[in-house]
Amino acid sequence: MKIVIKGLEVWYDSIQALRDASLEINEGELTFIIGPNGAGKSTLLKTIALIIKPKVGVIYIDGKALSKFSLKELSKILAYVDYQISKSLPSTVFEFLLTARYPHQNMLTFSMSQEDLEIVDKISKQLNISHLLDRKLDQLSSGELQRVLIARAFIQGSKVLLLDEPSAFLDLKYKLEILDLVKKFTKINRSICIIAIHDLYLASLYADKVVIMSNGEIVAVGRPREIFREDLLEKVYGVKTHILDINGRIAVIPLEPLNKMEL
Ligand SMILES: Nc1ncnc2c1ncn2[C@@H]1O[C@H](COP(=O)(O)OP(=O)(O)OP(=O)(O)O)[C@@H](O)[C@H]1O
Ligand SMILES: [Mg+2]
Repeated sequence: MKIVIKGLEVWYDSIQALRDASLEINEGELTFIIGPNGAGKSTLLKTIALIIKPKVGVIYIDGKALSKFSLKELSKILAYVDYQISKSLPSTVFEFLLTARYPHQNMLTFSMSQEDLEIVDKISKQLNISHLLDRKLDQLSSGELQRVLIARAFIQGSKVLLLDEPSAFLDLKYKLEILDLVKKFTKINRSICIIAIHDLYLASLYADKVVIMSNGEIVAVGRPREIFREDLLEKVYGVKTHILDINGRIAVIPLEPLNKMEL
């Protein structure tokens, strides 16, 4: 599987959110999108998920333009996880997880198979949410909800996982455990996973490829070592940083902003 993005331009009325964005993503790759607030990270993910239609440009999945896929075809191969939009759903965790199997059902009968239930059970155990299955989604802590959302994406069995800030509310242990699972899932299923994230250290630990965006543009694409450079981060974030190499792992230490806010 391969995603090819060519010359995307996205506008929200008079605001241009993506400018000539082009990118190629291969299967088995964990791609992280980083960049300042408002850079266009979520817009890029939403455009790949067909939630937003670009004004100009095309996205191809295995050579077929995204606009040529039916919604049912797309819901089988693509899962978009956005913590913000899932909070208000009225269902229980179990019901919510089971709906991830709908695209795989016979639309006439809607009956859940033993296999569907086994997948829900197995993945609930892997993400340590089995004890939450009877709870309503709005009765979960932020981190618990985030694990449920990732579980749902795994249960859906999609080949393309789009995760917007999947680790924002996770504690130290779950940040690592969940990204470990996402990485394994991507390698084993030879799927594609694109993650928008602010945590540069997590990106440097797990990324095969880092995409850095600024002001609607893709500024650079490369391996963590090629992207986590003091000059590039200063240019994009307006922050002086110090890059540490801790046993081959790159950590970005923010030092000070170039322009300080005045009270
Ligand atoms: N629904 C909308 N209507 C109008 N403008 C929007 C809308 N959503 C986003 N924008 C604008 O588009 C630009 C890109 O926003 P986007 O949400 O993609 O940024 P982001 O990189 O995900 O930022 P963050 O790190 O804050 O999540 C910003 O200038 C933002 O203000
Ligand atoms: Mg965003």
